[in-house]
Amino acid sequence: MSDEFAELHRRSLADPDGFWGEAAEAVDWTRRWDSVLSYDTEGTPQWFAGAETNTCWNALDRHVENGRADQLALIYDSPVTGTVRRLTYAELTDQVARFAGVLAGFGLARGDRALIYMPLVPEAIVAMLACARIGAIHSVVFGGFAARELASRIRDAQPKILVAASCGIEPTRIVPYKPVIDAALESDGASVETCIVLQRAELEAELTKGRDHDWHECIAGAEKVGCVPVAATDPLYILYTSGTTGQPKGIVRPSGGHLVAMAWSMRYFYNVRPGETFWAASDIGWVVGHSYIAYGPLIVGATAVLYEGKPVGTPDAGAFWRVVQDHKVATMFTAPTAIRAIKREDPDGTMLKSYNLSSLRALFLAGERCDPPTSEWVESLLEIPIVDHWWQTETGWPISGNALGLHQFPTKHGAVAKPIPGWDVRILDAEGKPVKDGEIGAIVCKLPMPPGVATILWNAPQRYKEAYLSQFDGYYSTEDAGYFDDDGYLHVMTRTDDVINVAGHRLSTGAIEEIIASYPDVAECAVVGLDDEIKGQVPLGLIVLKSDVEGEPHEIVAAIIAHVRESMGAVVAFKTAVIVPRLPKTRSGKILRGTVTKIVNGVPYVLPATIEDPAALDEINKVLTDSKIGALEAKR
Ligand code: COA
Ligand code: AMP
Repeated sequence: MSDEFAELHRRSLADPDGFWGEAAEAVDWTRRWDSVLSYDTEGTPQWFAGAETNTCWNALDRHVENGRADQLALIYDSPVTGTVRRLTYAELTDQVARFAGVLAGFGLARGDRALIYMPLVPEAIVAMLACARIGAIHSVVFGGFAARELASRIRDAQPKILVAASCGIEPTRIVPYKPVIDAALESDGASVETCIVLQRAELEAELTKGRDHDWHECIAGAEKVGCVPVAATDPLYILYTSGTTGQPKGIVRPSGGHLVAMAWSMRYFYNVRPGETFWAASDIGWVVGHSYIAYGPLIVGATAVLYEGKPVGTPDAGAFWRVVQDHKVATMFTAPTAIRAIKREDPDGTMLKSYNLSSLRALFLAGERCDPPTSEWVESLLEIPIVDHWWQTETGWPISGNALGLHQFPTKHGAVAKPIPGWDVRILDAEGKPVKDGEIGAIVCKLPMPPGVATILWNAPQRYKEAYLSQFDGYYSTEDAGYFDDDGYLHVMTRTDDVINVAGHRLSTGAIEEIIASYPDVAECAVVGLDDEIKGQVPLGLIVLKSDVEGEPHEIVAAIIAHVRESMGAVVAFKTAVIVPRLPKTRSGKILRGTVTKIVNGVPYVLPATIEDPAALDEINKVLTDSKIGALEAKR
């Protein structure tokens, strides 16, 4: 069977037209393609050029027509509101068709953008699918981001309509969304004609006359509208993700390739069949929520779970297992950080063992590197395959991992098994030469990549080329480093850019630095990733104050921390910063962030040959040791 897998993988690379042309039969098209894979005049790959389809049709209407009208499409389980709501395919289709009518009534049409700023409520999924239904492009912004982040996305996407909820609900507090929206819309260049606000009973928002409209009132009198065919190459959505600067990258997902990738990966990677229940415990603000809450499960006629809660604290560390039991979840997906949080509170699995988990066949983990003790712990308790798999917002679906629908390779904790069909993964050194097995290098994907992968950035085609294609000719740079072992298993070890991964969320240290530097007392700063037992990493700020600044250092640090939280949002988890006399730099003035990261995490380091003054590193070591931050004093 592993030979069959190897043969399938070989064929996917040797004959992409044949392989993906067959996979595309799982999708309904209103017009078939002229070619499976072609290139535009810029040399950008186009999958299924000439074809027309509609994502909402494939996710909803066709299942209603094909006998799934009464099957559950969506189970909303919200421990934070004490609600469980179940929607069949017929009910969800009805809601979506009506809300599509609302959007169309406000003038939203094919190619227009709508921005969605909502927590994990069914209406968020309705809004996404309604946009897809009329060929509009949605851009979902995670509810944990503050006004500045929301505004930068509005400025870039230029949406006609903003769809929001009145509040989000965190375990310890209600998060009002309206002030964030108002603040964002007051900033330069960030405006929308229409806001549709879902009023939640926990906190209703005051609506702005003329601009804001109540969701329930709008949908009550709405006419249902049908699915608008769009080109396979038309964007389905824009999803902003962190790059190395403060300006987020607008990842553009092509409609047709995405449909094919979702249908194929649900079946052959996650091994999910129609009618089964699939649960991705993520947020619709991230790519996992797009691919495997809102779209993937519905496209294959499965039942998706939408969980508005946390792994711990809503109410306890048994929450995930309760959801699996109550909804008979067959396949589950979460981030390692969630398992670490559960493990800390329920180390012996006492709560886990009190639930009936017999429905659960596999647990998939992604979003950050999974430390072996975490996957070993959960494997020993669940006794099912634990599949660590690796991918990115840009790719939209997995690159490497155990494809359970094809062949189950033995698990190796710490590795993401083997590249999936469609993906030609290589490890290169700095000169672009392949390295030997076991040697670490840049992980790259040979072009062309399979369908569904973003091939442009919104408003920034050149930035795409510079960010991903310019480093190694003919390859896509993942910005991850790792190696293949002797068994051909891939190990993804670390990012190679200034991006850190906080609780499975990708954050730009450069963006945090920009905010800190905008605080009046700050002369300069550096932000690096500090290892964290639960979140994997958290940002640590090293701050140099202007020479004339007066005041208590701890008060200044607290004010800077509050400034970051207010500007970027709580999810950045920026809670630790120290004031240092100066930053270690090279003779040409570049901050030595890599060396600082090693120092704060107690990793032995080699003194960089280009360092201007080694004493700057000793000073940092002393400040961190005195403030008991990070690992014990790092040795060089
Ligand atoms: N809206 C508003 N605020 C939010 C938010 C949202 N949607 N999501 C998180 N926040 C806030 C939290 O309340 C918290 O605020 P605080 O500083 O006042 O406590 C802060 O942002 C950090 O949130 P979080 O990362 O959730 O940390 P936590 O300490 O509350 O919980 C975990 C830790 C491990 C339980 C949590 O990070 C988690 O569930 N992680 C799973 C991540 C995941 O699924 N990632 C998707 C990738 S697949
Ligand atoms: P995002 O685009 O937010 O999904 O983040 C993608 C990044 O998260 C990747 O480039 C990796 O750095 C990291 N990542 C995701 N999944 C894994 C994994 N299974 N193992 C190691 N790193 C991962």
